[in-house]
Amino acid sequence: MVVEGVVRDGHGAAVAGIIVYAYHTDAKGIYRPLKNAPGISARRHGQLRGWAITDSLGRYRFITIRPGHYPQRNAPRHVHMHVIEPGCCTYYIGSIVFRDDPLLTDPERRKAEADRGGSGLARPTPDANGAGDVRRDNILGAGVPSYDEARRRHP
Ligand SMILES: [Fe+2]
Repeated sequence: MVVEGVVRDGHGAAVAGIIVYAYHTDAKGIYRPLKNAPGISARRHGQLRGWAITDSLGRYRFITIRPGHYPQRNAPRHVHMHVIEPGCCTYYIGSIVFRDDPLLTDPERRKAEADRGGSGLARPTPDANGAGDVRRDNILGAGVPSYDEARRRHP
């Protein structure tokens, strides 16, 4: 599965140099810990995590797999996402969820469409492996409390 998107500011301009962090479960729904993990996040977030930095057109891209459902829990598949704005702030944005996920409820779908950083509702493009590539664009700071204050302090 390819996860890609464009990061824009609140005026719609693409922003370079933004770090996007993503992590998710393996295909069985497990956050499998890193061996000799260097910190608590490396243990809790598991092996399937990575960082990308946006290019001059604001683009980022991950090549990964589609996460599985948590075992014994009725939760939709999801990819956790964080944004790191160097010199300013870091915050989570709405997770990616998948429109074709049978466990995604209508309230969860509506929440994802209006989530922090813009819509996290992915519309997978069917591919030969059945994984489907997804887009997750991001509007910096959208719906993030105290974001404007952080920007004023770190322009
Ligand atoms: Fe999770």
